[in-house]
Amino acid sequence: MVDTVDSLRVAMATLNYTFLNFILLFSTAFNTVNSYRAVVVIHGVLTGSSSMELISNRIQEMHPGTEVYNIPRYAGWSSLEPMWRQVEEIGMDVISIGAVFPEGINLIGYSQGGLLARAILQRFPNHNVKNFISLSSPQAGQYGTRFLHLFFPNLTCETAYELFYSKIGQHTSVGNYWNDPHHQKLYYKYSRFLPLVNNKGNSTTEVFKEGLTKLKKMVLIGGPEDGVITPWQSSHFGYYDANETVINMHDRPIYMDDLIGLKTLDKTGRLTLITVSNIPHIEWHKNISIVDDFLLPYLD
Ligand SMILES: *[C@@H]1O[C@H](CO)[C@@H](O)[C@H](O)[C@H]1NC(C)=O
Ligand SMILES: *[C@@H]1O[C@H](CO)[C@@H](O)[C@H](O)[C@H]1NC(C)=O
Ligand SMILES: *[C@@H]1O[C@H](CO)[C@@H](O)[C@H](O)[C@H]1NC(C)=O
Ligand SMILES: *[C@@H]1O[C@H](CO)[C@@H](O)[C@H](O)[C@H]1NC(C)=O
Repeated sequence: MVDTVDSLRVAMATLNYTFLNFILLFSTAFNTVNSYRAVVVIHGVLTGSSSMELISNRIQEMHPGTEVYNIPRYAGWSSLEPMWRQVEEIGMDVISIGAVFPEGINLIGYSQGGLLARAILQRFPNHNVKNFISLSSPQAGQYGTRFLHLFFPNLTCETAYELFYSKIGQHTSVGNYWNDPHHQKLYYKYSRFLPLVNNKGNSTTEVFKEGLTKLKKMVLIGGPEDGVITPWQSSHFGYYDANETVINMHDRPIYMDDLIGLKTLDKTGRLTLITVSNIPHIEWHKNISIVDDFLLPYLD
């Protein structure tokens, strides 16, 4: 993986130079005194930056002068590319944007984008993100096929592991965070992403903790009527045990052993879990009152 990562970084360096220049030009042209930090927004699976325009526009309307960068990369089908690839590339964007705003930036990710964002913070612990908001994201994994039926009409939860826990299956983003409670051995054997960012891989690293514990605030939003994130508590780092009973974050090793810094954040009052009822998955990013009530208060 390291080789791939390195070659990707080299490849990205050229692109990022152009990108950074764009950002620099942009911020010089609007050289006003901004009272709000710049915000980076990452879209969900099978959509693109346009799906996040309501959120971006509302932030700019309510917090005038905020510079919002709505990540266009990995839109549509390409959002199914492996998670690490997306983490590397979008992560370089987050770092480049952060370099232009030394006072720090804020980060919002919706659905798969929230899991990408979380992994970016861990993979690039030198980031300067202050507040991170995860909007209905499968932070503890996914065991539900509702949105998968679009492209795998006959896929069932019970058999999906046969597809995802294979070398080929790991070439999809969804395979990377597919977490089958009945096939945990295979999950740990094959999954190349989620066990690693959860510091449950073969080698754990303090670095993956640093990136989250340095946050000013981490906000996790989800709700019982989500319908896609399964179990919905995955948006709060809760997950199924072997009997499909949901174990809340506080009772899971990832929290209790403070594997990625959740406990540290919590004990220092920097972790906020928000539950909102009656919001289907495809509505979170289309509802103005969600932005007003649960995003804006954390964007300083
Ligand atoms: C999916 O299931 C339907 C009905 O059971 C069947 O007709 C169809 O051939 C299946 N498609 C695939 C790709 O297996
Ligand atoms: C972890 O180690 C086991 C046993 O050595 C191996 O089978 C498995 O593939 C490794 N997993 C990862 C993600 O490297
Ligand atoms: C699952 O349920 C069975 C029967 O109720 C129980 O014996 C077992 O301990 C449970 N396993 C877990 C992991 O909770
Ligand atoms: C928007 O979200 C609020 C909860 O914050 C909910 O009460 C309301 O019904 C939602 N509106 C729509 C149009 O879904």
